Amino acid sequence: MYKRYLITSALPYANGPVHIGHLAGVYIPADIYARYLRLRGCDVVFIGGSDEHGVPITIKARRLGVSPQDVVDKYHSLIKDSFERFGITFDIYSRTTSSIHHETASAFFRKLYDEGKFIEQTSEQFYDEEAGQFLADRYIEGTCPRCGCEKAYGDQCESCGSTLSPNELINPKSTISGSIPVLRPTSHWYLPLDRYQDFLEDWILNGHKEWKTNVYGQCKSWLDQGLQPRAVSRDLSWGVPIPVEGAEGKVLYVWFDAPIGYISNTKELLPDTWELYWKDRETKLVHFIGKDNIVFHCIVFPSMLKAHGDYILPDNVPANEFLNLEGRKISTTHNWAIWLHEYLDDLPGKQDVLRYALCANAPETKDNDFTWKDFQTRNNSELVAVLGNFVNRALVLAHKYFNGKVPEVYALTDFDREITVEIPVIRKDVENSIETFKFREALKKVMDLSRLGNKYLADTEPWKLAATDMDRVSTILNISLQITANLSIILEPFLPFTVTKLRRMLNIEALNWDRLGETGLLAEGHQLAVPELLFDKIEDSIIEAQMEKLEASKKSDASAAGSVAPQKETVQFDDFGKMDIRTVTVLAAERVPKTDKLLKLTIDTGIDTRTIVSGIAEFYRPEDIIGKQVCVLLNLAPRKIKGIESQGMILMAKNSSGKMCLVQASEIMDNGTEIG
Ligand code: MF3
Ligand code: ZN
Repeated sequence: MYKRYLITSALPYANGPVHIGHLAGVYIPADIYARYLRLRGCDVVFIGGSDEHGVPITIKARRLGVSPQDVVDKYHSLIKDSFERFGITFDIYSRTTSSIHHETASAFFRKLYDEGKFIEQTSEQFYDEEAGQFLADRYIEGTCPRCGCEKAYGDQCESCGSTLSPNELINPKSTISGSIPVLRPTSHWYLPLDRYQDFLEDWILNGHKEWKTNVYGQCKSWLDQGLQPRAVSRDLSWGVPIPVEGAEGKVLYVWFDAPIGYISNTKELLPDTWELYWKDRETKLVHFIGKDNIVFHCIVFPSMLKAHGDYILPDNVPANEFLNLEGRKISTTHNWAIWLHEYLDDLPGKQDVLRYALCANAPETKDNDFTWKDFQTRNNSELVAVLGNFVNRALVLAHKYFNGKVPEVYALTDFDREITVEIPVIRKDVENSIETFKFREALKKVMDLSRLGNKYLADTEPWKLAATDMDRVSTILNISLQITANLSIILEPFLPFTVTKLRRMLNIEALNWDRLGETGLLAEGHQLAVPELLFDKIEDSIIEAQMEKLEASKKSDASAAGSVAPQKETVQFDDFGKMDIRTVTVLAAERVPKTDKLLKLTIDTGIDTRTIVSGIAEFYRPEDIIGKQVCVLLNLAPRKIKGIESQGMILMAKNSSGKMCLVQASEIMDNGTEIG
């Protein structure tokens, strides 16, 4: 065990509210971990805060006609408030616009600057002469060189998803003034990550083989590619000003200042002792983040800390993958999300149900999907039917037979002992799972304790013994209540609101983790309070209302005209290169007898003449298609369709309602011309 723990959770951008993806990926696991360590009596500091710099915030402000400060003020308080209502137990939730953060980040940069840890380089950047400022990539719009969409940004085309650089755009325009930007030289400071390559390889690849495979793998792939210097400054007016003479109009790159926010927030919380948490080797530092943050927390920030020299490095970075929602990628811009503050308003008192559903389904090793149906099932068949049911039976029976007083233990049977020895076993398992950041597994084992309780009651059937053997009933209920008291400890990191209720019903104070496993947590004769239900069944109508709300937000999303399938998984260029796609001409076409959809086509591929069966008969008559040049995937494995061997596939555009049309090259090319 370490002497102290410093737990950080990614600082969310204050340009929108937080959603279930953030919770499942970062804040729920971090909170479970922090609560668990506190229960064990450890010295823990849990840091949160808003990330309030960066270009997207300035864009949002400009679009709304307000200042960036207005934007972050609004979202910072919304986010802070909803985390609080949801029971995330940050020791501090501060913000990167605070003066202590500006001072800390500025001094950090200055120290590295003074010690010659940066390199300075001049490059050509787009400049808006009318507005008199350099343009961040996001501020440049133009035609996408890949798909022709006219509204691509300098860093990305949202229409086809390609990553771009602003000089690739056709007809680039400044979104500030509409003028055509010009290239101008500007100088920036770079952190030469290549100088930290050896250190990082040794520290991560040799020293942290225990990190989660998704995290270790991403680090390895970055390192295998060879690290390059990274710019740590930007020409922008929103951010932490670069504390160097002559650097007016330049600020720290948001990813340079934001992680320093963890330090600033610790300082703000503990002005006198913060250094113990950041500089003493007996502190264990753990960063909870999502997978898009891995490079910054495992490569860039550690290099900054190393360059600075005084600081400890993270011991682990248990990053999660992404959570999807009803089969689609969660998206703030496309308004496809369940927002925490709305959940709290719409389903009051159900914090733990969401905590449970998101933890049970957390994207720990791969992307996962949240569905409202699953949420309902988790509540009704697990929380209500297993956990709630057990606790309720134990308490109700104690009231029925013993006036709500904890009854005595008489003789223990072998079965009683078999049941109670399981409790410390479950405890050990849960500890192992939490300490290795396997929170889903931990939660499952926690639920095993309530399953154990249910099994005990079902097997012993105390309600049948009341007439004949009250001593036995007394023993059984004592044990059941002791299991319930153990639940009030083991559940605390996961379902804290439920535990508050449970303690009220048991009429006990909070118990420490080290009591977990004892069978005398409740003294004989101890008075219990009136039982209440821990969980309510969630009816279909509630789920339907939430589904409708989601559907409505999809419709209001202008960018999702019709219903467009989400982007598929990334493929490597090589995967694409394996497809042999070519222009071919249709020589002959006829209907395939006894089918509505199929045409048998004879095509000239430039290489040979072959047969393809295609499902386009609803949209093209044979005479419409003969003589047309179309595109074909030539090397698709041949297959028999209605007894005809089809050697390839005609490329078609197909929308969600099933309408199809042929894909054609915009000019006639030779047959057999490759497409790619
Ligand atoms: N704001 C970033 C994001 O949401 C996370 C910043 S984490 C920090 O992706 F370390 F930089 F603070
Ligand atoms: Zn595009």
